[in-house]
Amino acid sequence: MPEKMHSTEKAAFTLTDNRSGTSYDLDVLKGSTGPDVIDVRKLYADTGHFTYDPGFTSTGSCESDITFIDGEEGILRYRGYPIDQLAEHSHFLEVCYLLVYGELPNADDMEKFETRITYHTMLHEQINYFFRGFRRDSHPMAIMNGVIGALSAFYHDSTDIADPVHRFIASTRMIAKMPTIAATAYRYSLGMPFTYPRNDLNFSENLLYMMFSNPCEEYKVNKILARAMDRILILHADHEQNASTSTVRISGSSGANPFACIAAGIASLWGPAHGGANEAVLTMLEEIGSVDNIPDYIAKAKDKNDPFRLMGFGHRVYKNFDPRAKVMRQTAHEVLGDLNIKDDPMLDMAMELERIALEDDYFVEKKLYPNVDFYSGIIFKAMGIPTSMFTVLFAVARTVGWVAQWNEMIEDPTQKIGRPRQLYTGSLERNYLDVTKRK
Ligand code: SDX
Repeated sequence: MPEKMHSTEKAAFTLTDNRSGTSYDLDVLKGSTGPDVIDVRKLYADTGHFTYDPGFTSTGSCESDITFIDGEEGILRYRGYPIDQLAEHSHFLEVCYLLVYGELPNADDMEKFETRITYHTMLHEQINYFFRGFRRDSHPMAIMNGVIGALSAFYHDSTDIADPVHRFIASTRMIAKMPTIAATAYRYSLGMPFTYPRNDLNFSENLLYMMFSNPCEEYKVNKILARAMDRILILHADHEQNASTSTVRISGSSGANPFACIAAGIASLWGPAHGGANEAVLTMLEEIGSVDNIPDYIAKAKDKNDPFRLMGFGHRVYKNFDPRAKVMRQTAHEVLGDLNIKDDPMLDMAMELERIALEDDYFVEKKLYPNVDFYSGIIFKAMGIPTSMFTVLFAVARTVGWVAQWNEMIEDPTQKIGRPRQLYTGSLERNYLDVTKRK
């Protein structure tokens, strides 16, 4: 673990309790870039008060070297490399190496890493029977969640998180096996026979092959779609301390095994406010039905009494265009062009929705821009991927981010079990009343 990069400004803040006149000095920790943090670790001990920040909108949960986001400037960097450069010049497995090890690999290290991942893409044959316990119409996210959680029952040799060798093996297995699990869940839903990965295909080609190949004929991977998939995986690989990554970190902080932690991350990602948004965008576009109905739905999204939100818009951090959405928008047009899909009604509706929303005062003043999920569903649909598989593919990509963040947390000498406190507003002490005496 590289030496932590922060420096400390002692007593940079003074907190004064105006009721008693007591003042407390608080240090500021300065990172390499981005907002500094006020160190409140001793606040409760010194003041008897907790901080209060339910959505963690102003709270840093950890120190990390992995991903940097600037919401105002629309910046996203993996280990310092801008996301648009990685999307253009890199490939997903190289980005996996970068996120896990912190540096871009030389040719030799890349080849070794690629070989290691390739030779871990198969599942234990017994796991295939596990899939058969699900109904055929189960949501593939439910299947993925169950299977990943079950991996700890198959791989006892890599669950001792204190052992760096175990962590290395478990990390390799999770990155390598997610496409196989995703494709198997998809094929199970169709009643198609399961496919084994092929070692002559790259990560994204293999994913498409395992999903769409037919055992009765030769399957030729569409290289353009494989490249588009690879780019989408790069864009979704990591994103700082988002809800699912924070779930993985807090699960791991108790010492839970890595497969259980990733299963917890998958569960959190499934939510429509998070990774489930890409599926929710398509469902929303289908509900809107036509460009003519867009104004009514914009009005619903603005109505405080209406729970409807424009899925694919807004972000906790980006109060500017999500830099991933820009690349996704370009990819959407490329894929539809390559597939010779002219007037795709969904894309036409999405473009019109984007145009109207970006001009509407409500969205402008609340800085609600299209996020990464707005376009991914349109691309996946054009690639013939069913809506129910959209978040599954998001999870395939984000597994490397969860793995990198989980390893960073375990290796952080200052890490403790995550255990937030609360503001209690419940009943004061009262004595038990026998049922015969209750009203
Ligand atoms: C992802 O965290 C990450 O990094 C996540 C992610 C990643 O890579 O891990 O980037 C992936 O999850 C992208 C986000 C996908 N989710 C959606 O597209 C769902 C729709 N978006 C919203 O639910 C919402 O924008 C969130 C959840 C994304 C962000 O919510 P916040 O930061 O908690 O903001 P908020 O809900 O407090 O909204 C601020 C205001 C509110 O109005 P007021 O109460 O201030 O009057 O904006 C409104 C909201 O009502 N608002 C929306 C809106 N999003 C926010 N109004 C209509 N439509 C929307 N989409």
